[in-house]
Amino acid sequence: MDLNEIKEFLGEDWRRVEERIRLSLASDIKNLDLTNSIILSRSGKQLRPVLSLLVARACSGGCPTEYSYRYAAAAEMLHNATLLHDDVADSSDERRGVPTIRSMMGPSVSVLVGDYWLVKAMECIFSDEGDGNSRVTMIFSRTLSNLAEGEMLQLQKAESGDTDEQDYLRIIFSKTASLFEASCLSAAISVNASPEVERAVGEYAVALGMAFQIKDDIFDYSPVSTDIGKPVGVDVTEQKMTLPLIGALLGCGEDKACEIRRKVSEIGEHPEYRDEIIGFVRENGGLEYSSARLQEYVDKAVMALDILPDSMEKHYLSELASFVAKRLS
Ligand code: IPE
Ligand code: IPE
Ligand code: MG
Ligand code: MG
Repeated sequence: MDLNEIKEFLGEDWRRVEERIRLSLASDIKNLDLTNSIILSRSGKQLRPVLSLLVARACSGGCPTEYSYRYAAAAEMLHNATLLHDDVADSSDERRGVPTIRSMMGPSVSVLVGDYWLVKAMECIFSDEGDGNSRVTMIFSRTLSNLAEGEMLQLQKAESGDTDEQDYLRIIFSKTASLFEASCLSAAISVNASPEVERAVGEYAVALGMAFQIKDDIFDYSPVSTDIGKPVGVDVTEQKMTLPLIGALLGCGEDKACEIRRKVSEIGEHPEYRDEIIGFVRENGGLEYSSARLQEYVDKAVMALDILPDSMEKHYLSELASFVAKRLS
């Protein structure tokens, strides 16, 4: 199974979402239109709208509504907006195997275009009809405040150097799982799913989002040859203490843990600590620890789907949970 197979399976529904994204972003400002096409030509995995459409169809016997398309498009636009902002926050030079907008056009363009995508996403969500829509507006608004809070907490913790697993889980829920949750909940609401189904879909999405970010954080400790289209070994240089490092610290003695924490906090003045810390994580079971946690979330996601009637969509949702653990990019 790969994502293209699912996009093909989604057929006309998928094309409608892509078309909606393109139309929503159109602008007569040449500069902006050009930047948008550059981003769209390197679209990434588009996992959130795929999830969103699968959920809408799984909860409706294969009959998404106009709202399903709008929410799926909004999820992908919001995601791209957060990446345009995140690449400025992280000073990242490469994404999806190409230079970032930040590195090609500067941080101002990246922030402003990110704002544009964010507002265009919200326009896709807003409508004056019905209660369902105002709930969806609230769900996406809460996701946006979670995102900002998650990124701020991450910065705060990078400075204090005392991230524990609970802090880490809160950060990754806020910055990543929350948007997965909004993508899937809004899809369930778009087809009037029952409260029980909504709850199950929300649980699935949160567990999947947590697993997805843990995998991203494992990638960051992988060998440079990994083909993820962005640099690896950068989290620790930004003093981000992610699960592989937290796991490795749990398995070593108190003195060693203090030494490593101190080295993380001094990495700005001592870039040579980076390789030592990465080696420490690999040798002290940090990757195994994270993989075990990741698998727990994958299992939780799959179990949450039990309540849905059998369908090809349900099958793909379950496969996507395994894909998140095994993915190579
Ligand atoms: C990257 O997300 C940001 C994280 C939440 C780790 P994706 O890996 O889904 O990014 P693209 O859209 O496929 O590039
Ligand atoms: C996820 O965090 C970014 C957002 C959810 C905005 P990362 O900083 O780890 O994502 P990458 O590694 O840059 O894609
Ligand atoms: Mg980043
Ligand atoms: Mg990352």
